[in-house]
Amino acid sequence: MDPQDRNKSDGYPGDDFRLADPAVQLEEAEMEVSLRPRQFGDFVGQEGIKEQLKIFIEAAQGRREALDHVLLVGPPGLGKTTLAGIIASEMGVSIRTTSGPALERKADIAAILTNLEEGDILFIDEIHRLGRSIEEVLYPAMEDYQLDIVIGQGPSARTIRLDVPPFTMVGATTRAGLITTPLRDRFGVTHRLDYYNTDELSKIAARSAAILGVEVEEDGLHEIAGCSRGTPRVCNRLLKRVRDYAQVRHDGCITDEVARRALGLLEVDSEGLDKVDREILRLIIEKFDGGPVGLGTLAVAVGEERDTIEDVYEPYLLKRGLLMRTPRGRVVTRLAYEHLAVDAPAEERNEKLF
Ligand SMILES: Nc1ncnc2c1ncn2[C@@H]1O[C@H](COP(=O)(O)OP(=O)(O)OP(=O)(O)O)[C@@H](O)[C@H]1O
Ligand SMILES: [Mg+2]
Repeated sequence: MDPQDRNKSDGYPGDDFRLADPAVQLEEAEMEVSLRPRQFGDFVGQEGIKEQLKIFIEAAQGRREALDHVLLVGPPGLGKTTLAGIIASEMGVSIRTTSGPALERKADIAAILTNLEEGDILFIDEIHRLGRSIEEVLYPAMEDYQLDIVIGQGPSARTIRLDVPPFTMVGATTRAGLITTPLRDRFGVTHRLDYYNTDELSKIAARSAAILGVEVEEDGLHEIAGCSRGTPRVCNRLLKRVRDYAQVRHDGCITDEVARRALGLLEVDSEGLDKVDREILRLIIEKFDGGPVGLGTLAVAVGEERDTIEDVYEPYLLKRGLLMRTPRGRVVTRLAYEHLAVDAPAEERNEKLF
């Protein structure tokens, strides 16, 4: 197969639940491809993960073997798909991209596996959504590079065993807890990506601004970075929107003042929380008396999917200490009251939390 073709799906944008409008989604997907780092040198932060991956890659190359299977875990937009692409380019191999929900039939995965070339990367996004029967095909493929295929039905059915070229599976998931133990155990390497700090996001914004040809001042970058929910994807998105504002309302240059005003217009606050984040906290405070409230009830109240709350919003609110998970449900913390400038009922709160 033509290597160009094999890499066609390299820019797989992943799911972003916040982007319902197809036109915005398309713009976002195009932007992601153009801004996506291709080498470790351009991938900002996650130093420990990069360091380890570089060693594993060099070692595998030295032995002329395929890299061990890698599982990347972390909230949306932190760089899982990007890292998969970087691993492929640093290994000098092709990457074939698919996703858990897209693999419906055993024949699909069998076709993909048998078409791989030695050392290739098979990137499976949203791997926690793989069907059980597909997973079972993957076990021997990952472990022994073999594929068991059943031919025929009933008593005349027989199994044939096919060799699969040694390959590397890179799995990405926002929800490691939903991956079955047998699948998880077959990954030799698991990395959890963490939220980025403001300095790292400033660097990412600076790189993106250079690629997009946007004029920015250091302070303007810092302002955007601080409001990016610790997430490179959000950072790049805000950079583009602030650029629009700077272009239409000012002379095009993103200063800190311009950034602040634009971010205010976008309803992003100083903690990087957007409207939905604040809505979640406000609802728990106003409708559920600060919590605890179950996830299902909360999702209905907010008008978002349960999974979206759990995958996209909650991890950041937990990380910032604004929300807590308790056995009885979600509870806002004192910080959330402070952030929303709502008075917390003093003693009652302590009782609920502990
Ligand atoms: N460490 C980084 N340095 C620079 N840019 C980054 C970094 N991580 C992510 N990005 C940028 O953020 C965008 C989103 O990253 P990516 O698509 O890899 O996230 P993801 O973890 O796969 O998200 P999802 O779970 O939604 O699939 C990329 O297009 C890239 O431009
Ligand atoms: Mg992705």
